[in-house]
Amino acid sequence: MSMARRADAVHVRAPGKINVYLGVGPRRDDGYHALATVFQAVSLYEDVHASPSDGFSLEVSGSVDVSGVPLDDRNLALRAAKLLAQHAGVTEGVHLDIRKGVPVAGGMGGGSADAAAALVACDALWGTDLGPRGLHDLAARLGADVPFALHGGTAVGTGRGDELTPALARGRFDWVLVLSEQGLSTPEVYGRLDELRDDALADDATSLLEVPVALLQALRAGDAQELAPVMLNDLEAAAVLDRPDLEHALADGVRMGALTGIVSGSGPTIAFLCAGPEAARTVQAELQATGHEALHVHGPVPGAQLLV
Ligand code: C5P
Repeated sequence: MSMARRADAVHVRAPGKINVYLGVGPRRDDGYHALATVFQAVSLYEDVHASPSDGFSLEVSGSVDVSGVPLDDRNLALRAAKLLAQHAGVTEGVHLDIRKGVPVAGGMGGGSADAAAALVACDALWGTDLGPRGLHDLAARLGADVPFALHGGTAVGTGRGDELTPALARGRFDWVLVLSEQGLSTPEVYGRLDELRDDALADDATSLLEVPVALLQALRAGDAQELAPVMLNDLEAAAVLDRPDLEHALADGVRMGALTGIVSGSGPTIAFLCAGPEAARTVQAELQATGHEALHVHGPVPGAQLLV
């Protein structure tokens, strides 16, 4: 353990994400699927306050429905704190106070953001000073999306989605999110995709494992008009099979002026790409007027950051 200064209490903020592109390859022997994905961190956040404690404890509140969040060892933030303590030989504990702004089981990596925030918070609280590489390695052990929540910005993810390469993205992209009351289970959505592919025989699944050059160019140029037609999510068909209402919501947003709409990750949150802030405000208002819960966010934003 290094001699870095310990803190009394810390506040870390970590963002939710959208998969601007999510190409899913075959299921691997470890149960994960090979991915070629592009993440973008967006301005919807998890706030984690960590304070010294003898044991490990957790409280969860937020602007979204948090009733589905486990408070025991299934909680990824708690697992992150314990993993770091074990890894660094820390004998003290931590109390984590999580305030969620990212929908639970929404396909936006909220649980992963909690875990990333908990790693950064405990690293500061305990003075373990792991550095970006050390934190990344622990993050990857916690879940496929956790490294990106540390990293933030816009990045290409390969492997399970945890091998990251930063992608250049100029300017800002405006997104309108449509939230769902009922979440979707990520492993179930991946499983449904496998079933769909078995039925349709998708031997060519690996051909999807490349992010289109046009998509990277559109991000680099900050050009939402160019980005819209090349966005793709292989999990969308599986999510929609479970939730046919998503198809209607996707059509609604585009009719109201979004450039395109995509299911975020394993869903059910939908992300509509809009031409700019003004267009996004209009789409958000119209979606809300027709009974959808809609939020206007922008990306890219930084990954988990120590605020206090
Ligand atoms: O890594 P994480 O715990 O977030 O993944 C949740 C589940 O999603 C995995 O157990 C797996 O079923 C599925 N998954 C997958 N391939 C990936 C990422 C996730 O099959 N690359």
